[in-house]
Amino acid sequence: MHVRQALARDLHDRVTQTLTTMLVEMENFKALEFGRDRAINEVSSYQAATREALSNIRDILYELRGDEDLGSDFVSRVGRLLERFEEKTDIKVSLSVSAGWPSRLAVQAAVNLYRVLEEALNNVRMHSGAQAVAVSFRVAEGDLAVVSVTDDGVGLEPVFGERTGLGMLGMRERALLLGGELSIEPVRPRGTSLTAVIPKEKLL
Ligand SMILES: Nc1ncnc2c1ncn2[C@@H]1O[C@H](COP(=O)(O)OP(=O)(O)O)[C@@H](O)[C@H]1O
Ligand SMILES: [Mg+2]
Repeated sequence: MHVRQALARDLHDRVTQTLTTMLVEMENFKALEFGRDRAINEVSSYQAATREALSNIRDILYELRGDEDLGSDFVSRVGRLLERFEEKTDIKVSLSVSAGWPSRLAVQAAVNLYRVLEEALNNVRMHSGAQAVAVSFRVAEGDLAVVSVTDDGVGLEPVFGERTGLGMLGMRERALLLGGELSIEPVRPRGTSLTAVIPKEKLL
């Protein structure tokens, strides 16, 4: 579902608008008398716009394919996400994957979990002031997949429950989509832990 929405938005912003503008400009071009130099300039600008639209389409295709591969390569893709996060933020990251965690995930499950992780890390970066964050994938009681993101930052504000934002909402929706649930709670002595619990079978 979300993949389609993202695709629609990307196509609109990065392709459709460029092509529409080109059409209008070409129409204007037909109505005017140009010398050869002017005409060549005009055509060059259409070529540039065409190249840009093509390059944007290639990026979009690449991202779509990336999402497709995400299921077969989930843990290492998350590993790379965490490396980039660590470089960007100077927050120390650790990743633990328990025995029994599936080596292959269904594409939809992988995409949803990956987006949850991105937003959770985003929140750690924006709100926690943490020095370290631990990400874990484990299987509990044989049939529950548990994903957690735990930081050692400032923790949640006391009024937290009343004003959760779009990020939390999106993460909850993704967990729900996978038949699971998501919670966030303070950690003693300091920090915040976000946990998604999903039936393992929904990941396969
Ligand atoms: N790791 C965290 N540490 C401290 N506060 C957090 C953390 N994650 C979320 N929060 C709190 O929860 C709020 C809601 O998060 P979110 O729904 O993602 O909205 P946003 O990030 O746009 O503020 C944040 O504004 C912040 O106050
Ligand atoms: Mg957020």
